[in-house]
Amino acid sequence: MYKSIIRPFLFKINPEKVHDMTFGGLKIYKHIMPMRSMIKHETKSKHSFILKEIPLRSRVGLAAGFDKGAEVFDELADFGFGFIEVGTVTPSPQSGNPKPRIFRLEKDESLISRTGFNNPGVEAIKERISKYPNRRYRLGVNINRDPSSTETEAIVSDFTKVFKELYEYTDYFTINWGSVDAKTFEAVLKSLTNIRQEMEVSKKIIIKLPADIEEETLLNVIVLAREYQADGFIATGPTMDRSNLLCLSKKESEKIGIGGVSGKGIGYKSKDVVKFLGENVKGEFIIIGAGGIMCVQDALDMINYGADLLEIYSAFIFEGPKIVEEINDALANI
Ligand SMILES: Cc1cc2nc3c(=O)[nH]c(=O)nc-3n(C[C@H](O)[C@H](O)[C@H](O)COP(=O)(O)O)c2cc1C
Repeated sequence: MYKSIIRPFLFKINPEKVHDMTFGGLKIYKHIMPMRSMIKHETKSKHSFILKEIPLRSRVGLAAGFDKGAEVFDELADFGFGFIEVGTVTPSPQSGNPKPRIFRLEKDESLISRTGFNNPGVEAIKERISKYPNRRYRLGVNINRDPSSTETEAIVSDFTKVFKELYEYTDYFTINWGSVDAKTFEAVLKSLTNIRQEMEVSKKIIIKLPADIEEETLLNVIVLAREYQADGFIATGPTMDRSNLLCLSKKESEKIGIGGVSGKGIGYKSKDVVKFLGENVKGEFIIIGAGGIMCVQDALDMINYGADLLEIYSAFIFEGPKIVEEINDALANI
């Protein structure tokens, strides 16, 4: 029904508007208890999973950027996600880049985006996520600095602030490799690890890798992850490479302007990174396969290459919520 009736209607509307409409709908859905119970029952994963002593009700998670402001993560979890990553969250509220900043490429089943860090800031996020202490899914927060913080000291202080403020309420934190320079990233990782050591409960720290990462850099990141006891990797985020967008003309691409490619247009880049991690660090780190998982086969490929868990974003838009259940069902059969 999603692809034949709902999607054609939604795809006539500007992507960000559809996003707002979806959130509006989910905020109403939240109060319709019989419907919630029915959806929860229908999408109940038959594939619960224990990873490094963490029980997960499903291996499929929702990637960062969908619920940047932690507005509807609890409702989104009803669709069968085992974990949801909110954010990216920064210390202060941010409006992000000017609109339009999300472009839907229907024929290429891809998105180009340059949203920036639009989010309501750490205080609002804390207020929202603290309302859900008893979750049936895992909650992650993708964190970053305020764009105005440019010096290492200020950047470390920003990450530290968000980390400390939200520590009590989350299961894991994600920091994006490439969002700050390598030296600053190391300083951030070191600082977060030190804070974690002082805490009673150890929350996971996950490093999200870009799709365009080179092998040499990847090896360096692994060394850092070992040194500062990061727990895992998300492989990967979007790519800057548009060569897999076969239906996008040069003119259209120029008109859109800069932005990262998500969805099918990531091609094999994310799978290659997962494969590399699978061959080199499987068992040592949690490997979360992400980027370009658009169908059940992509999900199975990621698992075969070494992913422990999966994260999706674009597939939720192009395939609809059912994709979560379909992947869960397929994983239950292997
Ligand atoms: C509109 C949009 C906004 C995003 N915002 C964020 C973000 O704030 N932080 C982040 O780490 N990733 C962000 N991402 C990247 C996704 O989390 C994901 O890594 C990427 O889309 C690849 O997964 P997919 O191919 O399943 O979409 C965003 C992606 C899109 C399309």
